[in-house]
Amino acid sequence: MSTDIDQLRSETAKRRTFAIISHPDAGKTTLTEKLLLYGGAIHLAGSIKSRKTARHAVSDWMEIEKQRGISVTSSVLQFDYGGCRINILDTPGHQDFSEDTYRTLMAVDSAVMVLDAAKGVETQTKKLFKVCKERHVPIFTFVNKLDRYGKVPIDLMDEIENVLGIRAYPMNWPVGSDGRYQGVYDRRKNVVELFAADTTHGQEARLSDVYEMGSDELKARLDEATYQNLLDDIELLDAAGEEFDLEKVACGELTPMFFGSAMTNFGVQNFLEEYLRLAPPPVARESSIGAIEPVDEKFSAFVFKIQANMNPAHRDRLAFIRIVSGKFERNMTVWHEASGKPIKLAQPQQFLAQDRQIIDEAWPGDIVGLFDPGIFGIGDTISDTSTKFRFADFPVFPPEKFARVEAKDTMKRKQFLKGIEQLTQEGAIQLFKEAGYDSIIVGTVGTLQFDVLVYRLKSEYGVDVILTMQPFEVARWLVYEDGHTATPEGMRGIDRGMFVYDRNGLPVLLVNNEWALGWITDNNPGLELYPVPPDKKEI
Ligand code: G4P
Repeated sequence: MSTDIDQLRSETAKRRTFAIISHPDAGKTTLTEKLLLYGGAIHLAGSIKSRKTARHAVSDWMEIEKQRGISVTSSVLQFDYGGCRINILDTPGHQDFSEDTYRTLMAVDSAVMVLDAAKGVETQTKKLFKVCKERHVPIFTFVNKLDRYGKVPIDLMDEIENVLGIRAYPMNWPVGSDGRYQGVYDRRKNVVELFAADTTHGQEARLSDVYEMGSDELKARLDEATYQNLLDDIELLDAAGEEFDLEKVACGELTPMFFGSAMTNFGVQNFLEEYLRLAPPPVARESSIGAIEPVDEKFSAFVFKIQANMNPAHRDRLAFIRIVSGKFERNMTVWHEASGKPIKLAQPQQFLAQDRQIIDEAWPGDIVGLFDPGIFGIGDTISDTSTKFRFADFPVFPPEKFARVEAKDTMKRKQFLKGIEQLTQEGAIQLFKEAGYDSIIVGTVGTLQFDVLVYRLKSEYGVDVILTMQPFEVARWLVYEDGHTATPEGMRGIDRGMFVYDRNGLPVLLVNNEWALGWITDNNPGLELYPVPPDKKEI
């Protein structure tokens, strides 16, 4: 027994599970690829990207992603480096996919925020950052594209502090001035790394030129003004800057800040090593029976993502679980809280994008894809059969866009309903039915999800659909104080919106503005309105 617990402790301590967040184009895909390159998981960065003119990286797997050049789904990448087992959860960068991104962030222990040195903190970074901050997820900042003109480092630090409200601690500092940089100074090692001429466009892992601070070799490489500026900057940082405090990093109050360039590989390896040194191994999760520690010998996990038809060669459905505690073993039987039944976990898989591997065991922090015959839902808890509990619920996004969806060919209604049900279970869309009719209304957080809906129904279910956007922007779940059920007949003002039922049969009103909501509240005494189902928490 004691060797098992020792193994559980050491495997847990090795794990680093994180997501990379950024505004589109800041360099998330490039950085991810470079981390894989240093981890030995791929041998030539951009090799997949450059095969076709369309821009897509190892982590892209849906055709739509390739066509649009954006990352629509979250993928999981795993590799080893420096004695650590690294799990990177790729988050979709597009703003419309915040719900999926949110769920991914529920499954990580830390996050890397990539900023474009020329642009600083952008809108999407703010949104993603907010989610991390609410969960007290430790955040590491990588200021990218240092190989070209960028903002002054001290301004970037101020921006992080003022716009995001988190203190920044620069781990290294750009050498050079006016946004034109020659390299970085590593504060901990007291060395300067200079950009080396790169003839491979960053396709191969390589080392930079490293000089001791104060050495004659360094002075020979830098002009006098640059060297003097660097000395002044270091003095200023040491005197006026924040103290490094790992506890503050761990609770998300201080972000270690790194400068580099993912494209030219500059500073990537150093970032990876420092990140692995400072980032937390798997942390405890709240549940209905208190905090569950990773080194608890009893297995537990939760489902954070469901996805069907990821690969045309395997037409199946996968539930992605994040292991919270204990050891995962292939073919183990676990308790599935949501259905109140024991289930056997066959065919567990791990990923490097499309390459799947059947695995025999996994540990806290790992992400495993389970073959799902349709029993799992997002947020479900699975645990050792002797402990029945559930992890804290995932919060839900209120839908903001609505469309009526129908199959063009009525003969294909069965396939159509199957596809709609699948996408609903994946959490890609929210499903409503119009009261008194058979018609289907789909709610989403952003309009791009409708493109994905149309595309996937066509490519995976062979169904062409007619999509009619509805003029509503707000959904409200309807609950009467005295417990009686809201009905279209029993309410005043439903002509100001559309009365629908959610997939669990709960009554919901869709309206187009706050004014209509006010009217409905004033004219229906005892009626309470909720932006998400009453038993769920809103994000
Ligand atoms: P994203 O996933 O955050 O959306 O960004 P991605 O990595 O795709 O990078 C966006 C663009 O920025 C790409 O250029 C990429 O090559 C470039 N880039 C990434 N890192 C650096 C860097 O360190 N320095 C410089 N100068 N550029 C960088 P693109 O022209 O859109 O695509 P591509 O033709 O290079 O593939």
